[in-house]
Amino acid sequence: MPGGTVSRRITIAGVVAALGDIGTVTGRADEPTDPARMKLPQPGDWLVSAGNDAGTTPLKSGDFGQQELVLAWGFDTSRKVPRDGSRLNMVLLMRFDPATLGSAERELAADGVVAFSAICTHQQCTVTDWLKSTQVLQCPCHQSKYDLRHGARVVGGPAPRALPALPLKRADGVLVVAGPFTARVGGEQLQGA
Ligand code: FES
Repeated sequence: MPGGTVSRRITIAGVVAALGDIGTVTGRADEPTDPARMKLPQPGDWLVSAGNDAGTTPLKSGDFGQQELVLAWGFDTSRKVPRDGSRLNMVLLMRFDPATLGSAERELAADGVVAFSAICTHQQCTVTDWLKSTQVLQCPCHQSKYDLRHGARVVGGPAPRALPALPLKRADGVLVVAGPFTARVGGEQLQGA
């Protein structure tokens, strides 16, 4: 991998599942059109792991260390279902020292945890590679690079715009979605997933 060491908490199996058949992740491919599950994360949602251990346990900022990437779904707390009906709903989380975040980013973060759409704005690959040496998130498909400390702005590659941010807050000790994505989720050249 060019640029340095890749640090990931998620398993390779989890990444493959996330890139491919969402039914494999959830084990509930018979419910692909459930309206709640098809929605992007909503204000008030918890966030739950999108890995092979996907469940109903809300993520806390203390669940992951500094600069560990976690993929997650919004979780509808009233219906108690993850919003995993579309790959486009996937969220990436990473925790930083809050002092290293840009001022706008600090406003959207909770305990230093920032959240963005996990879907590349180029051609909608799932963005998974954290390059420690250069401190950027890289898309595995065409190597677009995003600066997560500063609004996931594009700092390299063909992506036309930043990853949409997802505002967070902490409530009762867990991470909660504080507002909708700040921009349209998805790529410029593809629709749907
Ligand atoms: S899909 Fe991410 S760089 Fe092309």
